[in-house]
Amino acid sequence: MFSPEIAPVVNIADLPQYEGQAVTIRGWVYHLRSSGKVRFLVVRDGTGLVQGVLVKGRLPEEDFHQFDRLGQESSLILRGQVRAELRAPGGYEVEVTGLTPLHICQNYPIAHKEHGVGFLLDQRHLWLRAPRQQAILRLRDELARACRDFFYDRGFVLVDTPILTPTACEGTTTLFATDYLDRGKAYLSQSGQLYLEAAAMALGKVYCFGPTFRAEKSKTRRHLMEFWMVEAEAAFYLLEDILQLCEDLVRYLVLRVLERRNRELEMLDRDTTLLSKVSQSFPRLSYTEAVVRLQTEGVAITWGEDFGGDEETRLSQMFDRPVLIHRYPRQIKAFYMEADRDNPELALCVDMLAPEGYGEIIGGSQRVADLDILLARLQEYHLPQEPLEWYLDLRRYGSVPHAGFGLGLERLLAWVCGLKHVREAIPFPRLLDRLYP
Ligand code: 4AD
Ligand code: MG
Repeated sequence: MFSPEIAPVVNIADLPQYEGQAVTIRGWVYHLRSSGKVRFLVVRDGTGLVQGVLVKGRLPEEDFHQFDRLGQESSLILRGQVRAELRAPGGYEVEVTGLTPLHICQNYPIAHKEHGVGFLLDQRHLWLRAPRQQAILRLRDELARACRDFFYDRGFVLVDTPILTPTACEGTTTLFATDYLDRGKAYLSQSGQLYLEAAAMALGKVYCFGPTFRAEKSKTRRHLMEFWMVEAEAAFYLLEDILQLCEDLVRYLVLRVLERRNRELEMLDRDTTLLSKVSQSFPRLSYTEAVVRLQTEGVAITWGEDFGGDEETRLSQMFDRPVLIHRYPRQIKAFYMEADRDNPELALCVDMLAPEGYGEIIGGSQRVADLDILLARLQEYHLPQEPLEWYLDLRRYGSVPHAGFGLGLERLLAWVCGLKHVREAIPFPRLLDRLYP
């Protein structure tokens, strides 16, 4: 399809290195404009945008006329000279010496105007091409990579946990069931945690990072049916160690995007002074203290109730940094959480709430280490013992204190980007009312 190019094929992002030289750019039409004998063509290639200028007589007549056939998102190959142009976005433009359309299209559905979000979600496969969406995806890539670097650098081993599982991990009300051929039901993983606990007993410090499923009947700006979670688990870790580890992780992740993805954050108009507050230590308060603070602000909540979206929003507006809330009542938390010896009504657990009203981004805890206590928990939570025998084995053979947590990538990204809703934080969101595209 491509005849050999005389000038090097370059990324738009690299154009500054080619000032004064002839280059070839392959991409899509972002914007078109005519003015007298001059035609302007903004091209995007996934790395950036650049304006091409077509002056009649300075490129083959046939190529010049191709311009008139182009519509937004037509694909093409451009040849031209790179020159500095202070007025151009990015500081460079290309004087076009050749234009070869690859695929000409008209009536691209997403025009340069405001569209409703329902429409844009229907067009998600095309919406991804918008510069804003590209910036979000690059930030997502950076965060995902930074998670892996963080754990690798600290000696945590990546262990992939299964997606098809025989039991619930986070409560039976949000399970996605599927037929496992003739062996009955299988459930899409709500968390890799239980398997990660087994791996921690083998390798010491482990993590997993994969798709996670919750059949949430909630239609909030924080809920997806399918999301990505990075989870850590470590043998001999106590709640205190987890508080430190998740604080270190979030600080590392946010500083990393501030350092490497400033351009994208700028594109999103993100106020980075707010993000840079992560350098300071994160406030910590107990659930009980949090309840008192909410009550003082006039929120109607009584001790023992879980925080809903509104309470989380209020709490996370009280601090300019992420806040760690620990020791929730055991009765509102999962079956596997270790009780606090000082007050067995409390779980040795933590939620991290992101500031600016974003709410929970991390959930974690120390795990029940004792076999008899865990057996009693299964009864208490009406969970079947048989499919969890393997999990009980971890308490039969060399049980040790251990702890871990999970961070939702989309919730983190929504906060980092300043998005109103998590649906823009994943390439193809699965929502209560959406499975397309
Ligand atoms: O608090 P959760 O349910 O904790 C667990 O699943 C533990 N087993 C993790 C562990 O200890 N290994 O979920 C952890 C995080 C939440 O804080 C949130 O960031 C994200 O996962 N999350 C969701 N994100 C988007 N949509 C949903 N429906 C989510 N549910 C949880
Ligand atoms: Mg949680």
